[in-house]
Amino acid sequence: MPTADAEVHLDPTALAAQMAEDVRDGLTHRPRTLPPKYFYDARGSELFEQITRLADYYPTRTERAILDAHAQEIAEESGAETLVELGSGTSEKTRLLLRALTGAGTLRRFVPFDVDPAVLEEAGAAVAQEFPDLAVQPVVGDFERHLRELPRHPRRLLAFLGSTIGNLDPAQRAAFLDDVRASLVPGSAFLLGTDLVKSPDRLVAAYDDTEGVTAAFNKNVLRVLNRELGADFDLEAFAHRAVWDPENEWIEMRLESLTAQRVRVDALALEVELAEGEQVRTEISSKFRRQGIADDLAAAGLRMTRWWTDPDEDFALSLSVPV
Ligand code: SAH
Ligand code: AVI
Repeated sequence: MPTADAEVHLDPTALAAQMAEDVRDGLTHRPRTLPPKYFYDARGSELFEQITRLADYYPTRTERAILDAHAQEIAEESGAETLVELGSGTSEKTRLLLRALTGAGTLRRFVPFDVDPAVLEEAGAAVAQEFPDLAVQPVVGDFERHLRELPRHPRRLLAFLGSTIGNLDPAQRAAFLDDVRASLVPGSAFLLGTDLVKSPDRLVAAYDDTEGVTAAFNKNVLRVLNRELGADFDLEAFAHRAVWDPENEWIEMRLESLTAQRVRVDALALEVELAEGEQVRTEISSKFRRQGIADDLAAAGLRMTRWWTDPDEDFALSLSVPV
């Protein structure tokens, strides 16, 4: 079956308007912030792919091992006819699930959902080639805004892998889980990948690699703003920082201004004065504990029914169902 053209909930005009609003808001309030979803143009998705192969970045390979060990059980428990994957990226690990679900004979449809059309197109084509009997229906959208617009497929498995949920702050996470619950009919399930709390040394190493790939990924948001909003960020004038916040149990990625500088953002008619040493927060990456996840899911009307982890308890996958 050929890949359907991507269904677009976020066209370039809507994305530009949203970006303008987010960037104005983030750069004019203290502490200054930029939302992580703007890392992901074609270059940002490629840099993320490189990150997943770094020795220090353990989450991807650990989650893959958990999926490898338990895809069959997940397929049997969910009996899914439709697999929707949020923030799907390359859908590389997802192949393990797709193989188990097609092997079980239930799966008919795969809906990869991502904000980056470039990664979605490539991934959709690759999946369609490997699974010719599957209807592949990509959706370009923002999972913080467009979840409720997805068709409420019966027997749907909604997957959110990679611990991308950790990139939402607690209020955003609660709103997102409410949307997930609202989009699930009885007989559906939610498969969630979450990175777990561990030693700060390992965490910081995962977000500050010696090869500088994470630094390039972090700075990519500035390139995106230069291109999309006519900003004049000088990438050399910023340094990548990764800091563990023990109170919130999250890693913060920041860009630190190396000099006192003025940045213009033409499309916003905005000038921002940055002091030497001033930091812009570009991402949080929350690390989780089992009870916290179960509580967050329960608050949204979801009951955790399964929990799988690796032997070192670095990463977890959980399955939950609407209450
Ligand atoms: N799921 C993959 C990719 C994780 S990278 C994995 O586990 O390896 C995060 C992915 O989420 C990227 O592909 C990025 O484009 C996408 N993404 C980030 N913010 C998003 C948003 N608000 N809405 C939709 N997709 C988003
Ligand atoms: C996509 N997300 C879960 C990654 C993470 O680990 O928070 C993004 C990332 N940021 C730096 N490295 C990887």
